[in-house]
Amino acid sequence: MSSTVQELNRTGKGEGQPVGVALLGFGTVGAEVFRLLTEHADDYTHRIGGPVEVRGIAVSDLAKQRPGVPEELLTDDARALIARDDVDLVVEVIGGIDYPRELVLDALNAGKSVVTANKALVAAHADGLAEAADAAGVDLYYEAAVAAAIPVVGMLRRSLAGDHIQRISGIVNGTTNFILDAMESTGATYDDALAEATRLGYAEADPTADVEGHDAASKAAIMASLGFYTRVNFEDVYCEGISNVTSEDIAAANQAGYTIKLLAICERLTREDGTEAVNARVHPTLVPKEHPLATVSESYNAIFVEAEAAGSLMFYGNGAGGYPTASAVVGDIVGASRNIVYGGRAPEDNTYAKLPIADAGEALTCYHIDMQVDERTGVLAAISSEFAKQGVSLRTVRQEGSEEDARLIVVTHTARESALREIVNTLTSLDVVKEVNSVLRLDS
Ligand code: NDP
Ligand code: HSE
Repeated sequence: MSSTVQELNRTGKGEGQPVGVALLGFGTVGAEVFRLLTEHADDYTHRIGGPVEVRGIAVSDLAKQRPGVPEELLTDDARALIARDDVDLVVEVIGGIDYPRELVLDALNAGKSVVTANKALVAAHADGLAEAADAAGVDLYYEAAVAAAIPVVGMLRRSLAGDHIQRISGIVNGTTNFILDAMESTGATYDDALAEATRLGYAEADPTADVEGHDAASKAAIMASLGFYTRVNFEDVYCEGISNVTSEDIAAANQAGYTIKLLAICERLTREDGTEAVNARVHPTLVPKEHPLATVSESYNAIFVEAEAAGSLMFYGNGAGGYPTASAVVGDIVGASRNIVYGGRAPEDNTYAKLPIADAGEALTCYHIDMQVDERTGVLAAISSEFAKQGVSLRTVRQEGSEEDARLIVVTHTARESALREIVNTLTSLDVVKEVNSVLRLDS
């Protein structure tokens, strides 16, 4: 990068100057970003101080029909587009990790600001990308990477920068919420609900990322990093998806007054020696039906933040889909473009606290264990004693069925995840337990 480019990033191009944008990707999100940029061009010019001009759009298949898009804008050579002198800002909405990482680094190293919606990329390579942005003195924005239209990143980075956050939790994946909701409310099968979420543009190109919880884990890593000023990467997040949640689990939860949601939970833990650590996890969770999260339907997302001074905050809105996501992407384009026109940078990632990452077993949670048991005297005592050995007390115990079909449903009080896992392992080997049907965590 030349010193002229660095100087320009500090001072800005000047009011009225155009901001040249390279749009990488024209799928569910990219097409809507282009639509917004085209339909509201005049407004953005006023908000930015100069017009946004799309210099080119990189796609993989040039033969695809893209009505309304001038053919001369399309290219399959993303690298050449990024390198153009008249491109100031690169918008990455391709998806994946390795290839977009190369493109984003190319852009940052060339002194061009970047906007991305790619949570998988940010959660896997945040440090390297932030370093490249710092070295070039440019912006790296990724508001759309968490909960699409809900301004979670800006809220954590700017609005709550004066507070001390204790916990961030909620529903951050639209596809899995859509599937669980459809299975519960319409009796849809898992496969049909996933196909519909894909058709509606909510799912990732490979929906395994959604249903196995990886997408939510990437978002949890980003939220924890911002909220606790500590780098938390994708692999630091304990992750279980919804692919093992059955219609029977949902029906049983329903009967007991719960709904099953895939939750991302990021929290500060205080260890026995009084020091703090960060825990981030994603797993299916039983939520009491009267809890506000239980009413979050379809592909909507909701995030709770518990902060020392602000208290409890809840954010709710569209968590997936091209148009809502484009709102966040274009918001970032406006922010980055203003800095390109007038100079300066947005607040960058700050990981000064460097808290240790807690082991998954250190998390505090409650278990809901549904097991098939023998119908004879002493069963309850035998099972209860396994909980007592680990110092875990029981909140409720319910028995259903009789003789061949006796079921025991146990809900624990809050305990360490490691102790609860140990208990489940022991239960499976007890003579009186025929089978552990399901183990779900409970958030109350
Ligand atoms: P799509 O699969 O719909 O679109 C991907 C686009 O990238 C397509 O236009 C495709 O080209 C293009 N592309 C693929 N490979 C290349 C390549 N090698 N070079 C140039 N272009 C390429 O994805 P989405 O729009 O759904 O998602 C994009 C990103 O936004 C992802 O990171 C995703 O996680 C994120 N995101 C998505 C949300 C959503 O609701 N969909 C919400 C929030 C974030 P072609 O058109 O020729 O196939
Ligand atoms: N596949 C993601 C979801 C898109 O379903 O939430 C939004 O990040």
